[in-house]
Amino acid sequence: MALPNGIESTSELLDAQAHVWNHILNYINSMSLKCAVELGIPDIIHNHGKPMTLTQLVNALTINKLKSDGLRRLMRILTHSKFFVMVKISKDGNEDEDGYCLTPASRLLLRDEPLSVAPFALTMLDPILLDSYNSVSEWFRNDHSTAFFTTHGKSMWEYTGSDKRWNELINEGMASDSRFVASLLTKECKQVFEGLRSMVDVAGGTGLMAKAIVDAFPDLKCVVLDLPHVVAGLEGGENLSYVGGDMFQSIPHADAVFLKWILHDWADEECVTLLKKCKEAIISSDNNNGRKLIIVDMVLDDNIKEDNAATETQLLFDIMMMIPVPGKERTEKEWAKLFFNAGFATYKITPVLGLRSVIEVFP
Ligand SMILES: C[S@@+](CC[C@H](N)C(=O)[O-])C[C@H]1O[C@@H](n2cnc3c(N)ncnc32)[C@H](O)[C@@H]1O
Repeated sequence: MALPNGIESTSELLDAQAHVWNHILNYINSMSLKCAVELGIPDIIHNHGKPMTLTQLVNALTINKLKSDGLRRLMRILTHSKFFVMVKISKDGNEDEDGYCLTPASRLLLRDEPLSVAPFALTMLDPILLDSYNSVSEWFRNDHSTAFFTTHGKSMWEYTGSDKRWNELINEGMASDSRFVASLLTKECKQVFEGLRSMVDVAGGTGLMAKAIVDAFPDLKCVVLDLPHVVAGLEGGENLSYVGGDMFQSIPHADAVFLKWILHDWADEECVTLLKKCKEAIISSDNNNGRKLIIVDMVLDDNIKEDNAATETQLLFDIMMMIPVPGKERTEKEWAKLFFNAGFATYKITPVLGLRSVIEVFP
């Protein structure tokens, strides 16, 4: 049998096949992770307090006990992908048994962990989002703004307003990320908020981030602006208030505007419109520490580094910003273009949040 054109040897042929297979099956990593979170496997191992054998795990989980071999295989792939480690447990002089332990990654999946990313995982892996990935090639051929629209017949934010379960799920997913980012920002980036008297968290969801910021900076008053169905029924406090509205229409005035994971949801044109609205909101501030936007978002490298897990995650996020919403992840050059087009003069990028950065933008 002749080798396909451009393939030089049998080993290259087999490597190519293995590469394609790996990518065909890659979604199983995501779905295995989702299953582990849904079953509460990290919590059960954590509560056990020591390495847990498969038998102990099967007994502790509310699953059909006839499926223990399925669980062993699920744990094997999750151990391979570094969510669990296997250690030897010696049994009173008898043969060693294998036991599962948590890793730093699965500790972040514990439900009671304040920095848990479990709600974010369940949001991102919900069928409402996943279904859109079956419409991507159709979306490339039609004139819809997103594959989400092609699948569901409305934009994701319209859909969120019409589906209570999904509204609660996405708000909780976002809130969990806000808890995570807030814990770092209020420790590692204090100087960004110091001296501010007022701030609007634009599209701030249910206000987890704003709460953490006003707790850390008691002289700061914060308004959370989001769509009416997101902030409905939420009660503020002494330094925190909620406003339901459309950020493209009007933004309350303040010393500073905070935008976490907002601009990456939108195309350049909408971003410039929004940035101009933000500029109007801060421009009349007489606070020398204010008159700025504080953005939390990714800054993509201009040069794509191959075989680099961080780069791959950023590129995956970029595609994720294209399917449910009409957004994108941006390079520094692309960010600068947005800021200058919206009439801002300077900006400062501080890469303190792993794959994301804090970007301060000044008029
Ligand atoms: C990706 S979430 C980010 C939420 C929050 N900033 C965070 O990081 O946790 C985007 C938010 O934008 C809000 N949103 C979308 N369109 C909006 C609009 N036109 N006006 C105000 N908020 C909007 C959504 O309701 C959602 O809460």
